[in-house]
Amino acid sequence: MEQTTPSIISPDIPADAQKQVSTLKLGVLASGSGTNFEALVQAIADGKLRAEIPILIYNKPGAAVAARAQRWGIPAMLIDHRKYQSREAFDFDIAQTLSQYGVEWVVMAGWMRRITEVLLDRYPDRIINIHPSLLPSFPGLHAVEQALKSGVKITGCTVHIARLTVDSGPILIQAAVPILPNDTPETLHARIQVQEHEIFPRGIQIAAMQAR
Ligand code: GAR
Repeated sequence: MEQTTPSIISPDIPADAQKQVSTLKLGVLASGSGTNFEALVQAIADGKLRAEIPILIYNKPGAAVAARAQRWGIPAMLIDHRKYQSREAFDFDIAQTLSQYGVEWVVMAGWMRRITEVLLDRYPDRIINIHPSLLPSFPGLHAVEQALKSGVKITGCTVHIARLTVDSGPILIQAAVPILPNDTPETLHARIQVQEHEIFPRGIQIAAMQAR
């Protein structure tokens, strides 16, 4: 029988973890559909993550994530990378906006831009990323396709503290997802995303606890 039960690997989260950290002010960066953004919003609404999201920043006009923010009444700001001469100038404006909204933790929820020292220096060890593979395997673009092509039998997703190198940095939590014989990039990504939505709020909670 095929093993299809995913397993989540993380440090223990104490039952009273929510009480151990103050309400986290999360600034979310997202480029696309925003299912992970919405999973965070839902986890906050359900009392599973003690946090608030004062601002969502997105970089692509018309990105579906903006409509999700609007439905939840969360301010969303478009900062279009194509209007900037350099990655640093783009990150400078992002950092300024995050500061204006009182953001303490930056959460990259499908943020498809490389970050620079400008953002990292403003939020040292306080930028969290989610990626659809078991890092350090398959960083960068098309992680799901990379895993399928490689022939591995298990992939998954990772929540980690972001560093300068794309999809690198200390790992907070991972979930394993088996690859099935008839998987396409779409079917596999859909199963990975179910796990992403589960581990993302938990990863943020772990980061906050470890930073105390
Ligand atoms: C997610 O699968 C996330 O892991 C990935 O983008 C997707 C966004 O989905 N991020 C990366 O690949 C970062 N290197 P969403 O817009 O539905 O949340």
